Amino acid sequence: MRRLITLGSVKGAPGVTTAALAVAAAWPEHADGHVRPVVVEADVSGGDLTVRFGCPHMPGLLDLATAARKEQPGSLLAATADLPFGVRAVASPAGGRACAEAVRLVAESGQRVLLGEGADQGTVLLDVGRVGECVEGLLGASDAVVLISRGGADALAHTYAHLAEAGQQAEQYVLLVVGPCPYSPGEITATLGVGRVVFLPWDPKVADVLAGRSRSALRTSGWRTGRLMAAAREVAQLLTGTGEVGVKGLGGDLARAGAVPSASSFLRRGLAGLATKETGS
Ligand SMILES: Nc1ncnc2c1ncn2[C@@H]1O[C@H](COP(=O)(O)OP(=O)(O)O)[C@@H](O)[C@H]1O
Ligand SMILES: [Mg+2]
Repeated sequence: MRRLITLGSVKGAPGVTTAALAVAAAWPEHADGHVRPVVVEADVSGGDLTVRFGCPHMPGLLDLATAARKEQPGSLLAATADLPFGVRAVASPAGGRACAEAVRLVAESGQRVLLGEGADQGTVLLDVGRVGECVEGLLGASDAVVLISRGGADALAHTYAHLAEAGQQAEQYVLLVVGPCPYSPGEITATLGVGRVVFLPWDPKVADVLAGRSRSALRTSGWRTGRLMAAAREVAQLLTGTGEVGVKGLGGDLARAGAVPSASSFLRRGLAGLATKETGS
């Protein structure tokens, strides 16, 4: 059976698709018995892959949705397309009712088609866009949930609210903080109760490659050494258990690159205030 890793944000569009593609592109070759992961675009507000890469959405998510209802759903791999940087993906149509319905069907009954049969190896990186009600069932069925957030107190507060509802499960979550963040990894893990945090640097050069805006950069492998890819490799190692992982947050270079350690406990106070308001106490 494949492993299922769900990636999504609680609010806004912080860079979920970019993170999913970066992690897939950085997946360790020897992980999962050398089987490359598959990114599945299951975002109710629509797919970006077809537009960004000019790849057809058929076969794609609609086929998975159709297969999800069948006795013998067949292989997910029949619905994949190869993106220019070697990542396999199941694309969805760009929004609309058909897309939303397909996400609902895959979320409700698509576990078999996503996870495959006993002999199927590899990992599905499920990009749900937002972790809304529609995909709640899949969160529970996931081997790991990766939340993506920007690093400001406002964005983190929304993530905190979601994690508070997840209770003890929050410890299984990995949080990716995209772009500048004034808080240290330790402060975030301690305050939000999340198991791990990784900072994804703001890196337009690599993001352009991953969004199909910089085909010329693909002629060399230089973009793979960019800061965003270094962080994505750390995430991929974390998710495949192939890296050296600290108990809480990150140690070493990434933490230094992504976070400005904060002397204040502003985040903790801000989020504690939010929790008090929510419980009405
Ligand atoms: N780490 C990053 N550095 C630079 N640009 C980024 C980064 N992450 C995302 N972007 C850009 O932000 C925009 C939204 O990213 P996307 O991954 O599509 O967000 P989402 O899937 O959350 O809607 C895209 O133009 C993308 O290239
Ligand atoms: Mg997206």
